[in-house]
Amino acid sequence: MGERNSHSVGLISRKSLFCLFTVATSIFIFSWFFVLRSTGRSHFIDRHLLPNSRLAAVSDNSPPLNQEKTSGLILNPPETDDIAETIREKDVGKCNSKKLHLKVFMYDLPPEFHFELLGWKSEGNNVWPDIQSKVPEYPGGLNLQHSIEYWLTLDLLSSSFPGLAGSRSAVRILNSSEADVVFVPFFSSLSYNRHSKIIPPEKESKNKLLQEKLVTYLTSQEEWKRSGGRDHVIMAHHPNSMLDARMKLWPAMFILSDFGRYPPNIANVEKDIIAPYKHVIRTFVNDSAGFDKRSTLLYFQGAIYRKDGGFIRQELFYLLKDEKDVHFSFGSVQGDGIRKATQGMHSSKFCLNIAGDTPSSNRLFDAIASHCVPVIISDDIELPYEDILDYSEFCIFVRMSDAVKGKFLIKLMNSISKEEWTRMWERMKEIEHLFEYQYPSKKDDAVQMIWQAVARKEPSVRLKLHKSRRFLWSEIGKKQVATSLPWSRHFW
Ligand SMILES: *[C@@H]1O[C@H](CO)[C@@H](O)[C@H](O)[C@H]1NC(C)=O
Ligand SMILES: *[C@@H]1O[C@H](CO)[C@@H](O)[C@H](O)[C@H]1NC(C)=O
Repeated sequence: MGERNSHSVGLISRKSLFCLFTVATSIFIFSWFFVLRSTGRSHFIDRHLLPNSRLAAVSDNSPPLNQEKTSGLILNPPETDDIAETIREKDVGKCNSKKLHLKVFMYDLPPEFHFELLGWKSEGNNVWPDIQSKVPEYPGGLNLQHSIEYWLTLDLLSSSFPGLAGSRSAVRILNSSEADVVFVPFFSSLSYNRHSKIIPPEKESKNKLLQEKLVTYLTSQEEWKRSGGRDHVIMAHHPNSMLDARMKLWPAMFILSDFGRYPPNIANVEKDIIAPYKHVIRTFVNDSAGFDKRSTLLYFQGAIYRKDGGFIRQELFYLLKDEKDVHFSFGSVQGDGIRKATQGMHSSKFCLNIAGDTPSSNRLFDAIASHCVPVIISDDIELPYEDILDYSEFCIFVRMSDAVKGKFLIKLMNSISKEEWTRMWERMKEIEHLFEYQYPSKKDDAVQMIWQAVARKEPSVRLKLHKSRRFLWSEIGKKQVATSLPWSRHFW
């Protein structure tokens, strides 16, 4: 009995000694942690133990690949204020002032891929037109909806012009090793719009041929091989553009209008960028047509019958056609249609955007330019710069399943007060410039917003790139290759 007691007492004291030791050790480690942090020798800890808070702020706040700036930010101890600051800075317009330019390397693709498609003729060996003397024009009409290829390319070509340096989001640099991204200036939407027909005796359309040539060109470039294409930026704004090449060039970052015709492994919101359509309705300058001056409640302009997701248009037409102050008009906006649609949208409170054969359409951007509050009925729509722009401040989203319920839409429109509507109208006037394509580009217009969106993707491109290189040494070991490697400078 006594023996068993003393044994258990021994056990207890051994246990408590162990506890004491553990506690003391913990306190010791903990205090070192604080000593390190307060003496500023905490870089390792900040960088490795507190990655989330710090890196979140860094990736949002600093230009990609700018070493001094990035490491400077990492070396400061993290403060929650900084992070809050970063979030506040996400307000559109403010977030960009601190950012440096995205550094873009642009391939000197042969002119048949770009300006020759506009009818420009190269003289001598010039790949690019001299846009300081004359800017070739992009074809008008509905072609313009997808003209982002033209505006982005012009922006890069002009990036070294004096006088334009102050308000840029991207600069063209000539050494690809120093670039953040590699830009592929193929005018793919125009190629689709203009050259999809097979003209005998040819067996393939020019559009298809150009895509094949592009794939051959790109995959043989040093820059492509270095990254497997991951840091390349390819424009395919028309939903049917790059139909063949997209399946081969998918590691690149695409600039698209939506993901409707892409399998998710080829294009997705993590990897790619949604760019606005260029609106075809004139911007409503000096708009004083407020709530009471807009007599039409709800306006829709578009084709009534669309394949794929477009069945909803018909349903809505039958639900709404007899409602008071609702205007449905059919056909595409061209010629005189543009004038009528302009008039219609400028005098309506709400403008319907219904999924057509693709989730997106230029209608949304026409509505914004008209300051007609968009009512978006498209469950799969993805919107430009939505990571920094809250569309609910000026758009009304309605699920398809709700929209087709009896009087749901009409009741919803009528329940929105004059004050609420006016707030959305005012907000549209504040942000409409984010959707303007122009040359020269202006601060935070569509051109610059797209470059900024590319810049925000850049850290995740680096991450993928670095991950893809993890086993390079093993691969080399397997192949027993001892020669120096072209990618080594990037690797380090
Ligand atoms: C391009 O940049 C890399 C890295 O900065 C540099 O090593 C190389 O010499 C540059 N090439 C030229 C042609 O300037
Ligand atoms: C808009 O208003 C400004 C200032 O009042 C004026 O200078 C400009 O001409 C107007 N523009 C149009 C298109 O009416």
